[in-house]
Amino acid sequence: MEYVHYSVMQKEVLSFLNPEDRPALLVDCTLGEGGHSNLFLQKYPNLRVIGLDRDRKIMEKAKNRLAPYGDRFEARNIWFDRFWREYDGPQVDFVLFDLGISVFHYEESGRGFSFKRNEKLDMRLDMDAALDASEVVNTYDEKSLADIIFNYGEERYSRRIAFAICNYRKNKQIEYTDELADIVWNAVPAEYRHRRIHPATKTFQALRIEINGELDRIVPALEGAVKALKPGGRIAVITFHSLEDRPVKWFFKDHENILEILTKKPLEPTEEECSINPPSRSAKLRVVQKLEKERDPSLKKNKYRDQKGN
Ligand SMILES: C[S@@+](CC[C@H](N)C(=O)[O-])C[C@H]1O[C@@H](n2cnc3c(N)ncnc32)[C@H](O)[C@@H]1O
Repeated sequence: MEYVHYSVMQKEVLSFLNPEDRPALLVDCTLGEGGHSNLFLQKYPNLRVIGLDRDRKIMEKAKNRLAPYGDRFEARNIWFDRFWREYDGPQVDFVLFDLGISVFHYEESGRGFSFKRNEKLDMRLDMDAALDASEVVNTYDEKSLADIIFNYGEERYSRRIAFAICNYRKNKQIEYTDELADIVWNAVPAEYRHRRIHPATKTFQALRIEINGELDRIVPALEGAVKALKPGGRIAVITFHSLEDRPVKWFFKDHENILEILTKKPLEPTEEECSINPPSRSAKLRVVQKLEKERDPSLKKNKYRDQKGN
């Protein structure tokens, strides 16, 4: 079987989440094809891994890849926020989030995540979910579409694009990625068409985030993970855009009474990694460690007062 995703910031993640020779439990919340999990299981022979992915197809690839590790590895087909809400297992040593989607989704899934391939507009990670991309573009009202494209895509031409989508669908349902990419292309000003990224990039990102509820799952999952973490245990989060990174950063800051932030500034991939794997360019890694004892809450209050300048 071929694995198409190149795991990002491998060295950094392996060294922050390092059990040495101790038996330990890692929850890989975004298993994907199992790239990171494979490295962990290979390097740390006393480590057990629970891998989560809501996408059944990609999870099967990971299960195949990690089968040689026997019962050191267990896969669960579940959204990570739900996993942590329901979790009642032993305390965990390490938690890894590598947010977003995988190269597999763009190149192999056939679900219309990319405008580079003409495929049916679907974009669901959870193939049992009711809502797919074609339903969003064909049924949402113009204002909701504009808001989604603006909020989840940070697209400055969101209103023009939403107007163009609604105009097009008066005559024909939008079914394929090519149709949507053409609608966006025609909706934006000519000078916007020849920039570094294709003008439909942000619209596609926005739809994917909406359909999979990606941003709404991050903080609830972190809350559950922190609760389940052993004192001294660590959480590492890799994000790929500021909409993902911001809630992680603020969550960690808001929990400084129980978490030590190990990366004052987020780490970024080296030049060398970016040249080998250009999609890693936008990655940011943040790592925290759970304190042995909660900090005095009055210290936290003072800190907040200082921040507000009073
Ligand atoms: C960037 S990929 C992970 C790649 C993986 N670390 C590797 O090295 O192969 C993210 C994966 O997480 C899954 N995913 C994204 N959000 C999820 C969520 N909220 N719950 C469960 N799985 C999720 C996606 O289906 C995707 O396979």
